[in-house]
Amino acid sequence: MTRIFSGIKPTGHLTLGNYLGALRQWVEVDQHRAESLFCVVDLHALTVEHDPARVRRLSRQAATLMLAAGLDPERCAVFVQSHVDEHARLSYLLECVANDGEMRRMIQYKEKSVRERERGGSVRLSLLTYPVLMAADILAYGADEVPVGEDQTQHVELTRDLAVRFNQRYGHTFVVPRATPPKVAARVMDLQEPTSKMGKSHESGAGIVYLLDEPEVVRKKILRAVTDSGREVVYDREGKPGVSNLLEILAACEGRGPEELSGAFDSYGELKKATAEAVVELLRPVRERHRELCAEPGRVDAVLRAGAEKARAMARPTVDAAYRAMGLMMPAGGEV
Ligand code: TYM
Repeated sequence: MTRIFSGIKPTGHLTLGNYLGALRQWVEVDQHRAESLFCVVDLHALTVEHDPARVRRLSRQAATLMLAAGLDPERCAVFVQSHVDEHARLSYLLECVANDGEMRRMIQYKEKSVRERERGGSVRLSLLTYPVLMAADILAYGADEVPVGEDQTQHVELTRDLAVRFNQRYGHTFVVPRATPPKVAARVMDLQEPTSKMGKSHESGAGIVYLLDEPEVVRKKILRAVTDSGREVVYDREGKPGVSNLLEILAACEGRGPEELSGAFDSYGELKKATAEAVVELLRPVRERHRELCAEPGRVDAVLRAGAEKARAMARPTVDAAYRAMGLMMPAGGEV
């Protein structure tokens, strides 16, 4: 059976980008057709300056939202990365397979390290090695597919390279996975800056729709979206990034292609109104279910505990096999 792994890092409140680029596909498609694991990748949130209490809060919120969006613990494992030691165990081994040049070429590292330096901070070593931990997340479970937005495909390519290199050097151990981004809305752009990705850790939230924004706030943000010169509503990502982003969001909400919607609106204003209403309706059930789940924190804890147990049992044999393959002496009795 196909195996799927994906994750969200708790560095900010989840956004419409996270939902359309990843979470919705996990809920609607992936969990029904494969053995799936979905993870709040909290260790990744420590790679930039962070407030410990906030990371803890956001981790719980992300897990609750994943369930609110419709991940069903009967169908998939939902868990927190730091509850399963195998991720960190394997990450070190993969650091001994990766080289520093390929880490420095990662686009996200380049962008984020510049941002950290501009803020006057130092760049944590873990920001550089982050993609290796991400590779460990995926390879520990023998995942065939990794449903992610477009911004993560370079990291999945690196994961493939590391898996192939490891297998060649030390014998076949890992499945070589592939990224499976959604067809529409694989890169939702910031509403105020439609040439940049809508990202949860941006400083100003005006161009970002958060899953827990009140409907009125969602409407306001979309109605104030930056659009392009001209008046024609056509899908052209290069020439009309603002309009194309709205078309793509609306198309994703309606389960269509953005080209199909080109020409369906007489003005930018009409497009904005339709998009705002579609997003409000898309998020309404998620917000409602989130509110209900917040009232039963014990239920979320139980799901995460069971998810971690299941994940640990799946990852351990592969990670132990990697230890043996690399030449580490296993303790008497067989297992680490
Ligand atoms: P993260 O937490 O930034 O994002 C979670 C998922 O949401 C997608 N996404 C978007 N998709 C479309 N448009 C956007 N604007 C947008 N913003 C985010 C991301 O592509 C991602 O699929 N490194 C990962 C987390 C991670 C992971 C993993 C993912 C760690 N280990 C192993 C898969 C497998 C990240 O930072 O995602």
